Amino acid sequence: MKKRSNMRSHYCGKLSPSDCNLTVRLCGWVSKSRDHGGVIFIDLRDSTGRVQVVCNPEDSKVFGIAEGVRNEYCLWIEGTVRKRPEGSENSNLLSGGVEVVCLAMEVLNESKTPPFPLEDESINENTRLIHRVIDLRTEQMQRNIFLRHTFMQEVRLYLNKLNFLDIETPVLTKSTPEGARDFLVGSRQHNGNFFALPQSPQLFKQLLMVAGFDRYYQITKCFRDEDLRADRQPEFTQIDCETTFLSEEEIMQIFEEMIITVFKKVAGISLQKPFQVLTYEDAIKKYGSDKPDLRVKLELCEITEIVEKVSFKIFSEAAKSGGKVSALRVPGGEKLSRGEIDELTDYIKIFGAKGLAWIKVHDLSQGKEGLQSPIVKNIEDDALEAILKILKAQNGDIIFFGAGSKKIVSDSLSAVMLKIGHSKFGKEQGLFEDIWSPLWVVDFPMFEFDNDKKKWDAMHHPFTSPKDGHEDDLSSNPENCKAKAYDMVINGTEVGGGSVRIHNTMIQLKVFEALGIQQKEANEKFGFLLEALKYGAPPHGGIAFGLDRLVALICGAQSIRDVIPFPKTQRGQCLLTGAPSSASKSQLDELGINIKRQV
Ligand code: AMO
Repeated sequence: MKKRSNMRSHYCGKLSPSDCNLTVRLCGWVSKSRDHGGVIFIDLRDSTGRVQVVCNPEDSKVFGIAEGVRNEYCLWIEGTVRKRPEGSENSNLLSGGVEVVCLAMEVLNESKTPPFPLEDESINENTRLIHRVIDLRTEQMQRNIFLRHTFMQEVRLYLNKLNFLDIETPVLTKSTPEGARDFLVGSRQHNGNFFALPQSPQLFKQLLMVAGFDRYYQITKCFRDEDLRADRQPEFTQIDCETTFLSEEEIMQIFEEMIITVFKKVAGISLQKPFQVLTYEDAIKKYGSDKPDLRVKLELCEITEIVEKVSFKIFSEAAKSGGKVSALRVPGGEKLSRGEIDELTDYIKIFGAKGLAWIKVHDLSQGKEGLQSPIVKNIEDDALEAILKILKAQNGDIIFFGAGSKKIVSDSLSAVMLKIGHSKFGKEQGLFEDIWSPLWVVDFPMFEFDNDKKKWDAMHHPFTSPKDGHEDDLSSNPENCKAKAYDMVINGTEVGGGSVRIHNTMIQLKVFEALGIQQKEANEKFGFLLEALKYGAPPHGGIAFGLDRLVALICGAQSIRDVIPFPKTQRGQCLLTGAPSSASKSQLDELGINIKRQV
């Protein structure tokens, strides 16, 4: 091409009727090209959108090039902007009121036929991930990545204004326990030793507070080797924050305002403030989950005490053996077919539930006769009456029951609640309200019992402070000990979590002890933190948000993979680069590593 400087005077998607009669130079890719009775129309696309380029046969040079142009060729054109003939405007495009009459054209680069048409939304995800470069060219992906950028910018603006300092922390480091496995990195210089990639910058941000930085943030990568799902990646991005001398409520206030501000600026979404605040206990009781989706207008009701003595063994045994029995009343649910109920029953098996008992309420005035259910014959009248009363049962309802261990009952009934709420039936029945539904969940327990390992685990992480007055329970009554921890949940997704931290060495050691980490191990693993706490560590606390989850929510993406430029699959692989891949013998030798067996 003759003239390399000033290659581009305008962006395709930004042209408008006010540019008519201007001569413009555009660069971009061919979205579509079609021959309409001797005139060739090319949709030229760049990062801002598309514009129609008209190539007339009278201009034989331009026309000759245009004839050879295929989808995804990279082009340079020069042309004059004019209004599109009346009736041929494209109201879907920003630049749909104009077209560019081509005066000169150059193919900057040819393209192979793309592996799939960019406008085809039915392409399977693995194909998209293998050809991620092409996939990223789609309008949807461009929009998602652009929104991700804007989101980060707005977060930075908000935090900078409040004097949060953007400070980097190491990626090659020591393990930070956040409940997942570490990714390890071998060391050539220290054969046989390993760095761990950070599961979060948790310990470093605390050290920064001890170092007197007052307010920190970082938009940073975290690495967790854990089972992946639609909202989990092994490598994901946190908006990680920490402050000193603030209470739980003050920290929550700052970050509630951040989310409200950023949602408004980025997407015009108005989140209702103040956010609802639910205790962990209430969330589990009412919704069976610590990340309830409050758009679903259903609630659980525990009936353990009522069914303790009924003949129906599944209920009474669960009640007597320390488990629980809960019920979910679904208004209008008598319409659900046997097939639909069977589907729900199958679905909850993944949560460990053995079955899903139910009662359809046809006509309350007829007593047992008015109920349809495989279980009512084994439930005594007084208990049945009490159940219907406490649930405020109405004709037309279906009531589902879960009985068994507390966790299985909560998980499975919560899953049924969400499945019904989000179904076509649920929406028709008014059981789902299409709004933005943010909330805080607070007063988490400090610990949860790991039944397999028979030991207490930290519910948040081991650096979370117990509530004032709960310190004495750490060793004697760990199950009663509550934490100064809070999670933010939006539309049923946990988007952030944080806590006030322990700033006192003795309490930190007590928490380690409750977790089965003895002083020697604590010193080996976290000696640097324990040491720092001894030098006048200030009260401090913070929060980290999952950037990918927040952006996915705003974009309406089904998975966070759709808002990450180069994500991993559910199996933790990068299909584009083929990572992870084997290392050469010499690389392994340098690290002093022998591969025992290829998995
Ligand atoms: P937590 O482990 O709750 O807290 O993580 C904070 C937020 O990060 C997001 N998140 C993830 N997103 C995608 N893929 C994952 N694998 C993944 N894991 C977590 C979630 C979550 O709410 N250091 C603490 C924060 C603190 O106490 O300040 C921490 O990392 O949205």
